[in-house]
Amino acid sequence: LFARPWSFIKGCVRIDDLPPMDRVEIAFAGRSNVGKSSLINALVGATRLARTSNTPGRTQELNIFEATDAPLRVVDMPGYGFAQAPKPKVEAWTRLIHAYLTGRATLRRVYVLVDSRHGPKANDLTVMNELDGAAVSYQIVLTKADKPPLRDLEKAIAAARAAISKRPAAHPEVLVTSSETGAGIDQLRTEIHRLANH
Ligand code: GTP
Ligand code: MG
Repeated sequence: LFARPWSFIKGCVRIDDLPPMDRVEIAFAGRSNVGKSSLINALVGATRLARTSNTPGRTQELNIFEATDAPLRVVDMPGYGFAQAPKPKVEAWTRLIHAYLTGRATLRRVYVLVDSRHGPKANDLTVMNELDGAAVSYQIVLTKADKPPLRDLEKAIAAARAAISKRPAAHPEVLVTSSETGAGIDQLRTEIHRLANH
């Protein structure tokens, strides 16, 4: 799946811009700057497929990626939280994110990315509530695991586990990753393969 060449198909600013629901989709959601676009690049082994930046608010559309004959489509989402962009724009993304996450029949799994230095924040919990409400499967992925000292990483893992343990539906184990070192990336690929062939 990830050995194929992946391409950027389009950026969607409205739900109507989305491609037809002709295949399974996985989406990467999370706070601005958490490392969504970087994780997609790490998964497909590209450096610049999804555009990344130090400045929160880099991804401003629902960006669609596909590979020829792949049974799965990848969606990179704008971040929620502290994006450095005009307020009306951020509000429009927030509506788009909500509409996509809760109203897309072909959405098989959402990866909710959480910074391993900080653990889940209030807006992550809000998104998880929405996903539970819409009965959409999701998994917490801790990002930037190369950054925190081990003690903080362990705290973030415990907080992420606690955040899903009390939920109505069962959710897969918390994954720990680093797009920088490649830690956890193979494990994530394996899980996505399983979803695609399900
Ligand atoms: P938005 O599109 O703005 O919401 O951000 P994003 O979640 O797509 O984050 P992006 O992938 O653009 O990464 C944000 C910054 O974090 C960039 O400077 C990346 O180089 C850095 N970064 C991402 N992943 C990692 C990682 O695993 N380790 C380290 N050290 N830095 C990372
Ligand atoms: Mg991005």
